[in-house]
Amino acid sequence: MIDLRAVRKVYPVKGGAEVVALDDVTLHVDKGAIHGIVGQSGAGKSTLIRCLTALERPTEGRITVDGVDLSTVRGRELLRARRNIGMVFQAANLLEARTAAANVGYPLKLAGVSRQETERRVEELLSLVGLAGRGDSYPSQLSGGQRQRVGIARALADTPAVLLCDEPTSALDSESTRQILSLLRHVRDVAGVTVLIITHEMSVVREICDSVTLLGHGRVIQSGKVDDVVTDPTSPLARELVPVPHVDDVHIPEAMTLLDVMFTSRPGVPTGANVLRLAASLGADVTAGTFESLATSQVGRLALSVPTIHKDQIIAQLKANNVHVQERNL
Ligand SMILES: Nc1ncnc2c1ncn2[C@@H]1O[C@H](COP(=O)(O)OP(=O)(O)OP(=O)(O)O)[C@@H](O)[C@H]1O
Ligand SMILES: [Mg+2]
Repeated sequence: MIDLRAVRKVYPVKGGAEVVALDDVTLHVDKGAIHGIVGQSGAGKSTLIRCLTALERPTEGRITVDGVDLSTVRGRELLRARRNIGMVFQAANLLEARTAAANVGYPLKLAGVSRQETERRVEELLSLVGLAGRGDSYPSQLSGGQRQRVGIARALADTPAVLLCDEPTSALDSESTRQILSLLRHVRDVAGVTVLIITHEMSVVREICDSVTLLGHGRVIQSGKVDDVVTDPTSPLARELVPVPHVDDVHIPEAMTLLDVMFTSRPGVPTGANVLRLAASLGADVTAGTFESLATSQVGRLALSVPTIHKDQIIAQLKANNVHVQERNL
């Protein structure tokens, strides 16, 4: 659905120097997938989104959305391609002087859709985002989460194939964040829309993304299905998604060694329980740990303190049970 081939974006800067915002970015997002883009400030995330909305053109490379090559379309075709791409922003950017219904219907009005058809569609959209009956409310009468719902309904008005979201939840509290994420998943499920989410919150990726890309200095550092990237314990995204537990303030006795352990399992397969049982039977103590349930797998990371004299046997036993082990250098 979204395809980037060797995309490079260079911004000229005064004085003849230049900034390479995107460098050889190749990326594919399947139809109906929810794909996260993560990376530090300045990594090129917003540049990527601007290129996808065709507000900017790549310096080199090709961008295809829903079969349309954005790098070459012009005029009327470009407008049509843009209508196929919905945008959701960090702040909903609503028209404050218009009701929720008028905000949602605004893109349809611009597109010349009849009043009757617009009213029907607006009602349908408000109900989709859980705001049935709130069409007459003004933005100032809505909560942050509700405003974002209006923003999502507006982005969907033209029945786009793709929804691009730039930090859609970073201005919301945790409860509203959960609701908006579950709404985005619902929208994907019922409307079949492909969703690209830029976020700095790893919890967003853990909660709803099927696949994820880590950008760094304009380049793709890692990309893949969430389930695949987390099961590679040493990969940068696995460390971001399920961080190694902190043991900074923990006193580890002289005769003990700290092991970093990671395991993955499918729901219903008690790998976590087995690892804990194995650790206990080997005389290991759990110093710290994290456990995350992702879409279709569970990932645990433990810091185990083990008697140094039995370290090698314990490592061998854990490895024999498909558990990833690494000694922590303190
Ligand atoms: N219009 C522009 N002119 C010149 N340089 C730009 C322009 N837009 C972005 N850049 C530069 O391109 C790089 C990528 O910027 P971008 O805004 O895409 O980062 P980002 O990943 O969205 O960061 P953040 O998380 O802070 O929003 C940065 O070095 C930035 O300074
Ligand atoms: Mg940005």
